[in-house]
Amino acid sequence: MNVTLHVWRQAGPEAKGGFATFPVEGISEHASFLEMLDMVNQQLIVKGEEPIAFEHDCREGICGTCSMVINGKPHGPHKGITTCQLHMRSFRDGDEIWIEPFRATAFPVIKDLMVDRSALDRIIQAGGYVSVSTGNAPDANAVPIRKEDTDRSLDAAACIGCGACVAACPNASAMLFTAAKIAHLGLLPQGQPERYERVRKMIAAHDEAGFGNCTNHGACQNACPKEISVDFIARLNRDMLRAALRDDESD
Ligand code: SF4
Ligand code: FES
Repeated sequence: MNVTLHVWRQAGPEAKGGFATFPVEGISEHASFLEMLDMVNQQLIVKGEEPIAFEHDCREGICGTCSMVINGKPHGPHKGITTCQLHMRSFRDGDEIWIEPFRATAFPVIKDLMVDRSALDRIIQAGGYVSVSTGNAPDANAVPIRKEDTDRSLDAAACIGCGACVAACPNASAMLFTAAKIAHLGLLPQGQPERYERVRKMIAAHDEAGFGNCTNHGACQNACPKEISVDFIARLNRDMLRAALRDDESD
């Protein structure tokens, strides 16, 4: 296959960026999208030019680092997969492919396609944990959990923290990410003692990081490679309301 890439190049956070064009010739349709970028980088290195900076790690849809916008869509044209799971057979011979970094105030560009997504880590640090007593591990099944709650908690825990929901949202909101992280703990008995404190702290960290508010567009759910449902945002809103009422009661 032959394709033409238009790749966002930006030397650093403060540098002015712009698209650079790279013709790619003779790439196998079975090559992954990242292997195609590796090939382009090898050619750039041979020519003594700066390779395209992009993040990747697991290359199997687990780590969430391969975050980029391909032809206007975070993680590319298909639903339910990450960029590293995308293959060149998803494109046609002769296609033009536009590749950009995730764009959001809370995700400043580091270089080319790499953005700083540590704002998501700060939301987790604010409350994405449970405090447990040390000592022996409790017996398995000592704490019964309803099957429906386990299933929903595991659905929420599928979030890989990639940030595609932010990139897709017209408000650059990280509410789907935050809702998933809050739900996977808040649905389990172990997550109950800090449930409302967790919601308050994580929402405060979300807002402080510069993410926008959710206005129910649903673009986040469509872009999410793990197909996390916006129902978790509705659950988050209910928990926020309960947290506020508890605040009032303690006045
Ligand atoms: S909710 Fe989906 S899109 Fe958002 S960070 Fe998690 S996995 Fe990525
Ligand atoms: S490289 Fe890990 S999810 Fe794509």
